[in-house]
Amino acid sequence: MITESQIRTLTQGLFSKIQFTEEPKGLYDPLRYMIALGGKQLRPRLCLTAYSLFKDEFDESILQPAAALEVFHNFTLIHDDIMDKSPLRRGKPTVWTKWGEDGAILSGDVMCIDSYRRIAMAPAAVLPQVLNLFSTTAAQVCEGQQLDMDFEELPEVPMSRYMKMIGLKTGVLIACSAKMGALIAGATEDECDNLYDYGYSLGLAFQVADDYLDAFGDEKVFGKPIGGDIVNNKKCWLTTRALEKADPLLREEILGAMDMPVATQEQRDERIARFKGFYTTLHVDEDAKYEIIRLTEEGLGYAAQSFSGVRLMTLRRLADRLVGRTR
Ligand code: IPE
Ligand code: IPE
Ligand code: MG
Ligand code: MG
Ligand code: MG
Repeated sequence: MITESQIRTLTQGLFSKIQFTEEPKGLYDPLRYMIALGGKQLRPRLCLTAYSLFKDEFDESILQPAAALEVFHNFTLIHDDIMDKSPLRRGKPTVWTKWGEDGAILSGDVMCIDSYRRIAMAPAAVLPQVLNLFSTTAAQVCEGQQLDMDFEELPEVPMSRYMKMIGLKTGVLIACSAKMGALIAGATEDECDNLYDYGYSLGLAFQVADDYLDAFGDEKVFGKPIGGDIVNNKKCWLTTRALEKADPLLREEILGAMDMPVATQEQRDERIARFKGFYTTLHVDEDAKYEIIRLTEEGLGYAAQSFSGVRLMTLRRLADRLVGRTR
């Protein structure tokens, strides 16, 4: 089995050889910008790690589909930042603030198409399954994003609906990344399914961590503005859990705070401070940390149904890095 540091090198090298189309610059510059900013590249790393559990030779038929996952992810981020009115990503101005919303929409579109071109380089023997997995996943991400926006208009959603929503917007792509590596390596159906479930639970943990960091992270490390979810009235994990835990009086206070004005920076800061106060009073920040660990262990339980020894350790180390993430 190749080592984790070899996988890291392979992941980091995925885009160094790739030349994206030059012209028109307005279309392709945002793509280059996003890829150059990097990010954690979790999805291709997971895909290559899953593949490495079965195979040692890495050619274009795995490297290109792994790159496709990252290009697709970057496309969703460009559109997500428009939808969330977010000014900052990876510590830099977002694509829509630099190129305008119209440019960001079209660049996102061409990235989605680019990702399909790369997926199509999967081995012919498994291409129908790979394409089906990828297309199903892509549609589910859109469904999750729509629910995420729908929820902004609701005062409250039950935790079970919140978990379904994050499963769609975030869980399925991470699950798909793990399964795709296994599929391309020729793994059995059981192995593929267990890796999918491992990735799905990890994806849920990853989004709960994202919600936690959105309120309690360090903006310089996280690379995104702190409190964006609160300002947008997102039904993030913290708010959802807070509403579950609060007594009737506090519930009314939380629901009322969702109407606090956010026109000026001062007003936004006030609302963010108010919600963070609710979170700490109710200890839902602590609950989030436990939930992240619980979901990660759940994921490892699925992995353990197919893997043991060094292979399970590899999956555990990857999961542990997610749990401890600060960015
Ligand atoms: C951000 O994804 C969107 C979520 C699903 C939470 P990442 O946290 O993987 O973003 P980058 O690619 O590392 O910037
Ligand atoms: C984004 O969720 C999920 C997708 C991009 C599909 P968020 O809106 O929480 O992601 P960030 O916080 O902007 O990265
Ligand atoms: Mg969003
Ligand atoms: Mg967002
Ligand atoms: Mg977020």
